[in-house]
Amino acid sequence: MIMARISLKLLIMLVGTVPLMLTVYNWGHCDVNRQDDNFYRDGRGGTPVENNDFESSIRIQREAQSLKQTYEMDIPSATTKETDCLINGDYSVKCKKEGKDVYMPFSFIQRYFEVYGSMETTSDGYERFGFHHSYSDVHPLPERYSPDGVFMMFDSYNVEERGRVKCISAIEGVPVSTQWTSGGHYYPIQIAQFGLSHYSKYLTEHKPRIIVLEDGEGNDLSEWLLPDRISQIRTKTDRINEENNIVEFNTPENIKNPGVTLSVDEAKLVTLTLDVKFINNGSVTVLLRTGDGNLFRIHYILSDSLIYLEGRDLFYGLGSEKKNKWIHLSRKVMVDFQKGLSLKMTKNKRAKFKSVARIAAVCFRGHGFFDNVSLSSAAHLDNFFDAANYLVRRQDHRGGWPIMVTRKLVPEMLELSPGWYSAMGQGQAISLLVRAFLKTKDQKYLDTASKALKIFEIDSAHGGVLAKFAGKFDWYEEYPTTPSSFVLNGFIYSLMGLYDLKQTASGETAEHANRLYNAGMDSLRHMLLMFDSGSGTFYDLKHITLGIAPNRARWDYHTVHINQLLILSLIDKDPLFANTAKRWMEYMKGKRSPHN
Ligand SMILES: *[C@@H]1O[C@H](CO)[C@@H](O)[C@H](O)[C@H]1NC(C)=O
Ligand SMILES: *[C@@H]1O[C@H](CO)[C@@H](O)[C@H](O)[C@H]1NC(C)=O
Repeated sequence: MIMARISLKLLIMLVGTVPLMLTVYNWGHCDVNRQDDNFYRDGRGGTPVENNDFESSIRIQREAQSLKQTYEMDIPSATTKETDCLINGDYSVKCKKEGKDVYMPFSFIQRYFEVYGSMETTSDGYERFGFHHSYSDVHPLPERYSPDGVFMMFDSYNVEERGRVKCISAIEGVPVSTQWTSGGHYYPIQIAQFGLSHYSKYLTEHKPRIIVLEDGEGNDLSEWLLPDRISQIRTKTDRINEENNIVEFNTPENIKNPGVTLSVDEAKLVTLTLDVKFINNGSVTVLLRTGDGNLFRIHYILSDSLIYLEGRDLFYGLGSEKKNKWIHLSRKVMVDFQKGLSLKMTKNKRAKFKSVARIAAVCFRGHGFFDNVSLSSAAHLDNFFDAANYLVRRQDHRGGWPIMVTRKLVPEMLELSPGWYSAMGQGQAISLLVRAFLKTKDQKYLDTASKALKIFEIDSAHGGVLAKFAGKFDWYEEYPTTPSSFVLNGFIYSLMGLYDLKQTASGETAEHANRLYNAGMDSLRHMLLMFDSGSGTFYDLKHITLGIAPNRARWDYHTVHINQLLILSLIDKDPLFANTAKRWMEYMKGKRSPHN
């Protein structure tokens, strides 16, 4: 109660004296200890707590109203005096005294209690100091969960824009991660999250807007410019599908040749999709007009190089093996551009370039065919299937997607050498593959998901992901170290994958997934509250297995824990999940569990 009063007074005082006392917290640069990048705030960290339910918004308004009244009546007067505050007898902080109350600077409170606050202008136009116990918020979830539905709150994720995504490979169509290695690697968790986020966006967003630039159906190709007299362009009947026309182009293949070119001027519909087949070493180029009025070129070439930049020419390899095959290309052009710039430029300079870039032309060079050249606001299903097909292509003989970097959980104590599997990677891959199966009814997706189960039964010590807590409870490890780490969010993601598969498959696969799921849920019921610190959650149980300080989950991971429990409460009737989620949500507003 006393604390609450001090806090309120504190806010009141701050409204009057902010410039002097307050270090405004910079949301964008929140300097928290990142546990890993499997979860990332995706820009939502910039928004202070959103109140989505009506009740709480009314309450906040009332509180705001009474705060305003108190402010008007109770502003510290000239009788305020300076005083030193001695902190636990260790050091002192300059404070102010007014009657019986003492006002401490918020910059001190913020660091001492790990809380957040800044001046905020609310929708009523009134500026006030917003105090937040946590910097994260619980995203509203759908009311039911199903294996073909939105995956948790992944519709709010923008995986490809994350700083730790080097670029989207044009060879594989999936992100390349620079997490734990600057050279980049294919990280199955990131790839699955990329696919799941696009699938979820496909379900929740409006239909994308599309303009077809060329599909060869009209015979008029006069808008296409030819680079010279020998180059040619003409429509042709597609040999595979007689009803369909394609466009044949033939120009010099040298990258300096402009190729056949269609001018456009587009700043909004900047996802390029097309089908192309090269007979020789051809290429596709997108011309961008940047803020300084100059042109910038993005070339998609038949090469195994991932990405490189030469002046104002940016190259993405499509793979050297793709000649004489139809390639379905789907690129978020501005993401490609941005990732290219970040190879050489600082963030500020990049932002300036990007904000004013427009697509100015699309060009094809060499000899080949193209079809279905379009610009659109999004191509979520393409991205989704790129991820699903990658997982089908790249699954190894053990049914896994090995992670080819060293992972140091605790340097020199808990390290994983390249080639480890993650239960979270396996689980999220399964969730993605199940959705691909349900969307297409193509058995290959379900078969791949089914093969991914084997690794759940192999001990961490033998290259699998299975740990046992106290020799008894099965736990599928996000990081299968020895001793075990028992990371909570990764485990629950793996359970969601098992759930998706057991609900979707039949026969042996369903039984297998069901067995693994039930064993995992049993462990979770017994162990969940070990992660409850009374005021937040623990990220893992390393403190128990290694005898070190507990690893408190930062607020965005705490939020993931809550979201996961809310999903589990939809698929499992045990009140433990809903009750715990409720308590954990209260922790985000500063409530603590009772003490003795
Ligand atoms: C095709 O041309 C590109 C440059 O335009 C070059 O980097 C690549 O190595 C060539 N590929 C083949 C298969 O010759
Ligand atoms: C272009 O799109 C149409 C309609 O979806 C499809 O039938 C055709 O096969 C596509 N062309 C190529 C070359 O894939």
